[in-house]
Amino acid sequence: MWFNHGKLERHSLLLLIGIILVISIGGLVEIAPLFFIENTIEKVEGMRPYTPLELEGRDIYIREGCYLCHSQMIRPLKDEVERYGHYSLAAESMYDHPFQWGSKRLGPDLARVGGKYSDSWHRDHLINPRSVVPESIMPPYAFFANRPLDYHNVADKLKALRTAGVPYTDAMITNAKTDLEAQADPFSSDGPKFKKRYGDKVLQRDFDGNPDKITEMDALIAYLQMLGTLVDFSKYHPESGENNR
Ligand code: HEC
Repeated sequence: MWFNHGKLERHSLLLLIGIILVISIGGLVEIAPLFFIENTIEKVEGMRPYTPLELEGRDIYIREGCYLCHSQMIRPLKDEVERYGHYSLAAESMYDHPFQWGSKRLGPDLARVGGKYSDSWHRDHLINPRSVVPESIMPPYAFFANRPLDYHNVADKLKALRTAGVPYTDAMITNAKTDLEAQADPFSSDGPKFKKRYGDKVLQRDFDGNPDKITEMDALIAYLQMLGTLVDFSKYHPESGENNR
């Protein structure tokens, strides 16, 4: 056998064929099973598509390049799980097109920032990060508070996402604008219908503290406050398979 191996090492073409053969076996073992399973994402309870207001907030997050300093993916490492909470599940970004995992952490991971601070903390922090975190190097985004949110094409955004596989219903698409307005107004008469479409857990309030208009601040805070809050991890048991089917 060792003698034959010597032959292989002295003939580069033979060696190349040997390498390709071995690598393709390895590739097949890894890739072929993916053709036979329906889904590589485990099903978890609680995941829902973004509401129109959260979606607009997410678009502002992308527009401003927040992902250049913030990741949204908690790796299964002890220090990260202790700091941020349960590691991120694939299912948690299944409605993200494009996903916001990021690759740089100049600031903390934001995958579970929802509910960590009050709306007014976020408002103060975005207007001037140094007002609440004196040593912060995050740039200020005070203009969010004054800029009215442009959501004239929010229904089209939902429609486009549906073609990418996000399960928006016809009712969600036709009512996108009223749902957006209902979420930003705690006294809206459309509130119950909005909650029926997106679930009781959805947040409905005046996120930026300014009831006169719907601003970019409303949308961004609505988005930040829901991050990582959809899956109830007290009920999630990856090993036993309970509640995650
Ligand atoms: C230049 C890098 C940079 C950019 C760009 C940036 N941030 Fe930050 N961010 C930071 C740093 C550093 C911190 C930690 C200090 C602090 O809290 O201000 C932080 C903190 C935060 C926190 C608090 C997180 C926590 O768990 O305490 C939130 C929320 C946040 N950023 C949101 C945003 C949003 C939304 C944007 C885009 C509009 C953004 N950041 C853009 C650097 C950045």
